[in-house]
Amino acid sequence: MGINHSFYRDTWVEVDLDCIKENISRLKKRLKPETKLIAVVKANGYGHGALKIAETALCSGADYLAVAFMDEAIYLRENGIATPILVLGASRYSDVKKAVQYNVALTVFQLEWLRNAQPFLEGSSIKIHLKLDTGMGRIGVRSKKEILEIEEFLNENKNILLEGIFTHFATADELESEYLEKQINRFKELLAFFSTSPAMIHCSNSAASLLYPDLQFNAVRMGISMYGLTPSVEIESSLPYPLKEAFSLHTKVVQVKQLEKGDKVSYGATYEAAEEEWVGTLPIGYADGWLRKLTGQEVLVNGKRAPIIGRVCMDQCMIKLPGYIEPGAKVTLIGRQNSEVISVNDIAAKLETINYEVTCTISNRVPRIYRKGGMCIEVVNPLIQ
Ligand SMILES: Cc1ncc(COP(=O)(O)O)c(C=O)c1O
Repeated sequence: MGINHSFYRDTWVEVDLDCIKENISRLKKRLKPETKLIAVVKANGYGHGALKIAETALCSGADYLAVAFMDEAIYLRENGIATPILVLGASRYSDVKKAVQYNVALTVFQLEWLRNAQPFLEGSSIKIHLKLDTGMGRIGVRSKKEILEIEEFLNENKNILLEGIFTHFATADELESEYLEKQINRFKELLAFFSTSPAMIHCSNSAASLLYPDLQFNAVRMGISMYGLTPSVEIESSLPYPLKEAFSLHTKVVQVKQLEKGDKVSYGATYEAAEEEWVGTLPIGYADGWLRKLTGQEVLVNGKRAPIIGRVCMDQCMIKLPGYIEPGAKVTLIGRQNSEVISVNDIAAKLETINYEVTCTISNRVPRIYRKGGMCIEVVNPLIQ
């Protein structure tokens, strides 16, 4: 594929597809040969770009894809993805025909939904995965009574095919395992109420599949670890192998200026130069997901650390430079320059949040450049097709 340089501002995300591939192969080596690997590419592939990640995951041995809602599934189908896709979240029962049209499996979590959806199917068949709520308290069937009623309904409505049963853990990314064990036991208890077993039974997310390799049933759902990010800082040192972070964020200095002592910077004039200082302006701001709370965060320029000064604007922010540099110098906000690294976790710590939120928050306004074998193979910029 040729390189498409279709973006006109020097601010971009780089996604190293070799890292994605390696993270998948490392997990796959720990799975039983018959265990299906479901690659979770919701939220635009956790901000990495759903299509390219889906393609890479499938080439690297993933069997199934999962997204949060139907629009995300349709996007993948419209862009040539033919592999089975599961919608993990709630879909409108009135939209079931769309799911049939795009051959997408839906998550079902109550009998009422099935009853309401059936007339909209107009006789066509659909695959569903039944979600059991074993302690997450989000969506899912919680009792034996509901399971028996749903099974009875499915026996009488053969056009609705139960392909899978699953649950989701609330605390798999914590070292304390008591609550997780409760959820596992509840899952097993609820599974025993089914008279038949569907093709797929799955419960493990990244944290569970990394820490509890036996908890596979016959499929696992791999999200954050596919992107090379640790499910939590707490379990980082317990991971069975190092994850390879695929995401980096870069820009270039657009202006370099010297401030006199007492000169101010940015909205509110909150920053004041204590002496003569060199300042660089970066074309990235909170509308790109580089949030206002990142004032004070360091970035890398010419292999050295430089702090963000003053308030982050919508499209720009300023850094204090160690000295004069040429405008146009590359600045790395997340990633490596020489021996210095700023990780997604560093930004999450500064924002007092989790790494998931950081990559998801970098907006669609920032083009994604994909690398493979060290080469740029594709640029995706949703603003310019
Ligand atoms: C139902 C479900 N399964 C799997 C995942 C993937 O989890 P992780 O990214 O921690 O691997 C998520 C993520 O939120 C989810 O909601």
